[in-house]
Amino acid sequence: MKKQINVFDHVETILKSLSRGVLLTTKAKGRVNTMSISWGTLGIEWNKPIFTTFVRTGRFTRELLDANGEFTVNIPLAESDRSLIGRCGSVSGRNVDKIAANDLTPVDGEKVSVPAIREYPLTLECRVIYKQLQDENAISAEDKARFYPSGVGCENPGANSDCHMAYVGEIVAAYILES
Ligand SMILES: Cc1cc2nc3c(=O)[nH]c(=O)nc-3n(C[C@H](O)[C@H](O)[C@H](O)COP(=O)(O)O)c2cc1C
Repeated sequence: MKKQINVFDHVETILKSLSRGVLLTTKAKGRVNTMSISWGTLGIEWNKPIFTTFVRTGRFTRELLDANGEFTVNIPLAESDRSLIGRCGSVSGRNVDKIAANDLTPVDGEKVSVPAIREYPLTLECRVIYKQLQDENAISAEDKARFYPSGVGCENPGANSDCHMAYVGEIVAAYILES
């Protein structure tokens, strides 16, 4: 069962969870993939509720998002197993089916083609309405040195040299998965 919510009633839960890690799920090329994220923003643009995610260009997730501009964000609640964040944030879907490997339960989306993940009940369904590669020359030298040191190639899950693509997602549905 899905309990519909107003996303702005849950801002504190979403943003506090985000800082520790939530799941970003994508589907394209015959694959469903999920990865951990802790960078994102919740707000309003073009009078629409928005979740923007920042994905390094080398991620498998980026390939899938460019092929199908829909994604879901799944946020753990108090009782959720947070160890999934480490496991989904350290291996790439290029090499491993993270849904099967972590026994995750996909639940059909309401308005998007990408499933939600039952294990993290608070769900945002999003459709990309804008995307932009962040300009590394517009980032302070300090942040550039800290967040984009060279050395770890972009195919590696720990990649740290490639820039982020900002995907601005309109939140088209928001709910809590209840059993
Ligand atoms: C807590 C946590 C937060 C992360 N946040 C982000 C993020 O916001 N953006 C990003 O590109 N990668 C982030 N990562 C790294 C990806 O989750 C990781 O590289 C993942 O293996 C990529 O999976 P994929 O290749 O299947 O897309 C994070 C990892 C962890 C553990």
